[in-house]
Amino acid sequence: MSDIQSLLRQTSFQKEDVITLLSPQNTDDIETIRRHAERVLLRAIGKKVHYRGLVEFSNRCNLDCYYCGIRRSNGTLTRFSMSVDNIVDAAKWCAAKGYGSIVLQSGQRTGNDFIEHVVSAISRIKKETVSSSLPDGLGITLCVGEQSKETYMRFFNAGAHRYLLRIETTHPGLFSKIHPPTQTLEHRIECLNTLKEIGFMVGTGVMIGLPGQTIRMLADDILFFQQYNIDMIGMGPYLPHRQAPLQNLSEATWTTPAILQKALLMIAVCRILFKDINIAATTALQAIAPKGREEGLRYGANILMPQLTPTRFRKSYQLYENKPCLEESKGDCALCLKSRIESVDRQLAVNEWGDPHSFSH
Ligand code: 5AD
Repeated sequence: MSDIQSLLRQTSFQKEDVITLLSPQNTDDIETIRRHAERVLLRAIGKKVHYRGLVEFSNRCNLDCYYCGIRRSNGTLTRFSMSVDNIVDAAKWCAAKGYGSIVLQSGQRTGNDFIEHVVSAISRIKKETVSSSLPDGLGITLCVGEQSKETYMRFFNAGAHRYLLRIETTHPGLFSKIHPPTQTLEHRIECLNTLKEIGFMVGTGVMIGLPGQTIRMLADDILFFQQYNIDMIGMGPYLPHRQAPLQNLSEATWTTPAILQKALLMIAVCRILFKDINIAATTALQAIAPKGREEGLRYGANILMPQLTPTRFRKSYQLYENKPCLEESKGDCALCLKSRIESVDRQLAVNEWGDPHSFSH
């Protein structure tokens, strides 16, 4: 039995074990880890893949993250905000197609108009997507950044039950290298705690391949997910953007194929450690490999996020360059993803929220 095989028989994993699993030395070991993750997935969740229809409803943002294409200082962008009617129309389309859940994502803003806009979109989606096949309406996930406790409560009371807030990296030095000094790791952690306390199902994640990032840092990220009992994970490769200064700061630690491999191993190790939680095969994986999202599913992911953002706005919502699916309609995205799911012997689940058994209020 190889060292990797005997390591995978363990029931708990220390930091050094996670590091070993993230740095296999040959393709046999990589395949052993992948197959194990797939077995864990099939046992804990089965073949089902759930959709979260993604509506990127506004690219206005108060922040200036050094990696992000929609950062406040990017003056080359046309800024947009979808009306509540438009957001609700996208949600109704999503419900009619049997998706079960929707993600509302935007740049981070804190003004009252913005908060009201989001609250009103959530309340209307909750009311207007109830049907015999979806008796509780669409499951709603929010991804609108760091907010006050009061604001998070308003979102929760309006009917959102999941929240995504990526930690980006848990390494304090790296976090401050990729964010302006006004943003802190501590505050992001505080927000994750607040979201949990309120009762949200909380998702987080990191970018992989950031300049200066190491395997030890990625192992710490996984231990952070464990310590904070995270319910959902979304991770993807860091992809440079011409209008974002991080691309000039320093050389990436790994080559693009190595970054893809690390991102897939991160998914596999999270699946092995956390069993039945929701892990997304993110669009960013497909930006560096044509079959990146299928690979994500093969390494243990069980969630896909088809784009519902109206095609006319997609070009203005590029957090990174070479974002796939800029020209496609939402119908194209649904069909294309379904065949990608079937190509790796998995099944699309319809009219279900797809929350893990481990989640309890
Ligand atoms: N490359 C990859 N991911 C990015 N994000 C933002 N900018 C980039 C980039 N250049 C991710 C961040 C953020 C999420 C919404 O998008 O992790 O939390």
